[in-house]
Amino acid sequence: MATSPAKAVPLVEPAWKPDTLPPFPAVALKALNLMAGTDTSLLELCNLIRPDPAFSSAVLKIANSPLVVFSKSITSVLQASMLLGFQRLKSVVITVGLKAYLKDPFSPLLQSCWRHSVACAIIAERAAHWSGFDKDFAYTAGIMHDIGRVALAAAMPQSYAHVVETGADQPHDLLQTEGQVCGIDHCQAGRALVTAWNLPEAFLEVTSSHHDPVPSTWSPASVLRLSCLLADAIGFGVVQFRATRSCADILTEFPERARSRFYADGKQLATEIYNEIKVIESV
Ligand SMILES: [Fe+2]
Ligand SMILES: [Fe+2]
Repeated sequence: MATSPAKAVPLVEPAWKPDTLPPFPAVALKALNLMAGTDTSLLELCNLIRPDPAFSSAVLKIANSPLVVFSKSITSVLQASMLLGFQRLKSVVITVGLKAYLKDPFSPLLQSCWRHSVACAIIAERAAHWSGFDKDFAYTAGIMHDIGRVALAAAMPQSYAHVVETGADQPHDLLQTEGQVCGIDHCQAGRALVTAWNLPEAFLEVTSSHHDPVPSTWSPASVLRLSCLLADAIGFGVVQFRATRSCADILTEFPERARSRFYADGKQLATEIYNEIKVIESV
């Protein structure tokens, strides 16, 4: 069934332009560009966080939360950094960065965009880990993959609300509706932002191609594309799709070693993700 064209909406919002948008938080942008794996990088990241009160308090709250095993009265960003390690600290900074980007105001629409991104990141991290891929990149890719949608929803809230209301048959059809209503789709918007923010090239593919068909060979790209679909299927979607796939059906595309670790009905997975999201939302 073809997607019906979106109803015309009166032009009440200025056209979307990347250079008129608020920038992604500087600490999170720097974290996205930092190379991993050395003591210098951990200290560098720690030094970026310390002067920023919002990031410092978020990192401290997460280090003292039930999400971190063995945490006990962590009182300084340096202590938190040592406890979390570079990769985890980087994930926290980027997740908090996305939340800070959306904060003003954190409307139900933006909250659903944010929850979708975090759910996708958590699923992608697990799937990558169980497949022998880089789980930290998978998590970051999950957080950043829909940054174009987040930016469209933040910059053109009425237009994007109309996109959500119109719905789509499948995720890929959503791009067409976005183009009709907003003048640009979220994959094009994401690509433009990655370029404007000088992010590493890998994020061009992550933001612009995640609704392309799932590759036939299992790869980090398959992990991201299926994690996005799975996040929708277990209740972390933004748009209602008329031809939505079930969790069990999506899991058939995962290799056995990853599929068997997920739960076919998705309920337990959704609960675990929801609990994690609530902790991050509270910081
Ligand atoms: Fe998307
Ligand atoms: Fe997505």
